[in-house]
Amino acid sequence: MSVPVVLFERPAEHVALVRINRPEARNALNLEVRKLLARYLAECGEDTATRAIVLTGNDKSFAAGADIKEMADAGTIEMLQRGVHKLWRGIAGCPKPVIAAVSGYALGGGCELAMTCDIIVAGESARFGQPEVNIGIIPGGGATQRLTRAIGKYKAMKYILTGELFSAREALDMGLASEVVPDPEVEGRAIDLARQIAALPPLAVQLAKEAVLAGMDAPLTSALALEAKSSQILFSSQDQKEGMRAFIEKRKPKFTGR
Ligand code: CAA
Repeated sequence: MSVPVVLFERPAEHVALVRINRPEARNALNLEVRKLLARYLAECGEDTATRAIVLTGNDKSFAAGADIKEMADAGTIEMLQRGVHKLWRGIAGCPKPVIAAVSGYALGGGCELAMTCDIIVAGESARFGQPEVNIGIIPGGGATQRLTRAIGKYKAMKYILTGELFSAREALDMGLASEVVPDPEVEGRAIDLARQIAALPPLAVQLAKEAVLAGMDAPLTSALALEAKSSQILFSSQDQKEGMRAFIEKRKPKFTGR
């Protein structure tokens, strides 16, 4: 029996871990991997038992990009029909926090996959990059936009136009990585962060994610209005009452997700 190319694990209560599992291909993202990623993230989005998700690969590679062998001979129509852009939307549309635990290579579509996540924990020897130009294409999973928004036009241009890779430290300094930790600690740290978030009121967490992401695409006044409304909406949640009462009564809150 063949081993699935994406694995689903439950490392802690309310935390899901989704692991890309094609070590023989440096975790290149073929269609099967992309479909499974989209499916697992959609399921996690709907499952009330899941409050935070860790997305990871193995110690050599988070993901080495789109599967070059799968697309080398494809034409435009076939690429259109594959609908990879819809799968990307599904992955990026997960309403719950997704933490990328990046070890080894995060290249091309792999770097783009990490950038669809909300927090990026990178191991010291992780390598990021958008090397698509080397093989005659450009990024297709969001890097021209997400990398530019994350690190600014002039650095993004340098990496997208040269295909040069950059280190985890550089990613941290440029604002792409949230944290850099020793290689053996990457997954554990990501799970700890997920556990920390999962212990918080899930509605507040979800609305915070939504406000940050929707706000990035909107004019400041609209984004601030969305934030204000989201903040006000939370005043009809039980967790808001519980959180504030617990603070006043000097006790630990018990959040229910309502
Ligand atoms: N697609 C398909 N197969 C890949 C792959 C990829 N992106 N990356 C690695 N592999 C395969 C290799 O072909 C090799 O297979 P074989 O054993 O059958 O020959 C196996 O994985 C191991 O790879 P290497 O021997 O090259 O391993 P390495 O450790 O020496 O190097 C690497 C690792 C630096 C990641 C190198 O494999 C590499 O440069 N890979 C390609 C990276 C790349 O160009 N990514 C962008 C793809 S395009 C894209 O992502 C854009 C988009 O969204 C449209």
